[in-house]
Amino acid sequence: MRIFMTGASGWIGSATAAALIERGHEVTGLARSEQSAAALTAAGITPHAGSLDDLDSLRTGAAASDGVVHLGFKHDYSDMAASGRTDRAVLEAFGDVLAGSDRPLLLASGAAGLTPGRITTENDRNPSEGPDSMRGGGENLALSFADRGVRSVALRFAPTVHGPGGDHGFIATIAQAAVRSGQSAYIGDGANRWPAVNRADAAELVALALEGATPGSVVHVVAEEGIATKDVAEAVGSALGLPVESIHPDAAGERFGWVGRFFALDTPASSLLTRERLGWEPVAPGLLADIASGYYTP
Ligand SMILES: NC(=O)c1ccc[n+]([C@@H]2O[C@H](COP(=O)([O-])OP(=O)(O)OC[C@H]3O[C@@H](n4cnc5c(N)ncnc54)[C@H](OP(=O)(O)O)[C@@H]3O)[C@@H](O)[C@H]2O)c1
Repeated sequence: MRIFMTGASGWIGSATAAALIERGHEVTGLARSEQSAAALTAAGITPHAGSLDDLDSLRTGAAASDGVVHLGFKHDYSDMAASGRTDRAVLEAFGDVLAGSDRPLLLASGAAGLTPGRITTENDRNPSEGPDSMRGGGENLALSFADRGVRSVALRFAPTVHGPGGDHGFIATIAQAAVRSGQSAYIGDGANRWPAVNRADAAELVALALEGATPGSVVHVVAEEGIATKDVAEAVGSALGLPVESIHPDAAGERFGWVGRFFALDTPASSLLTRERLGWEPVAPGLLADIASGYYTP
């Protein structure tokens, strides 16, 4: 297939593009700068000039493709509402182009915080509805495109997609907070759980979903259902040679910044249905092993 990707230069997107190319697909990637275009070219991806704010560039990219994988996102944590509005506008543009074609539209979403305190499954509807909700309510919007003849698929990534080289997301931020304070912290009793997936397994699953997921379906890109955050803090402390401590929930914002409210969540997620439906079996190292490997040592 000729795939148009956004975010192909990013942490998950670069591994996903490599997996797609490995499986014989051709990948064209949105590039908002010469630097990104050069990185894409070096990876065997054809750059397509444009940006998430340039809807015409997205429309032409999608129109020339057999399917779209949308992994680009503005990670501006100071204005997530604006990032959400952009994401919604991007998805609306893709939906208009792909309507009636049965072509796939895979979009990134998250598995965290959807059903706090109990295991989230693929059958749980995302509570974010409408433009003013988390990520602009993009997941439900895109899934509704299945009624318009689009093979839309929501990729709910675990809140940490880890791997060699270390991402710049949640675990990196937690490790930086540990270095700053001289203590690796968890919140309260640290029994609250976080799902995780290795980037290599995630990329493989996106490829499987592109090839085989059904219209309007939800895919849980989750290898480990829930790791106690105390275990995460202990692994970070051990990797950094720092003591481990519990902090009060009220201190989480000051200690961890924007990650604090996520690190406090108990948000396990299952991928049982995903594995059954797509035959996915994650094989890469787990989160604690990757932390122990030193990938998150700032
Ligand atoms: N990583 C995780 O642990 C995780 C967990 C849950 C969900 N997710 C979601 O999965 C998706 C991919 O995440 P990621 O970690 O791979 O993200 P990332 O490494 O931050 O990459 C973001 C991508 O978006 C592109 N981008 C950002 N702003 C853009 C703009 N204005 N125009 C065009 N492209 C733009 C970047 O391009 P440049 O190269 O030009 O900067 C980059 O390719 C995101 O939707 C993210 O929220 C990630």
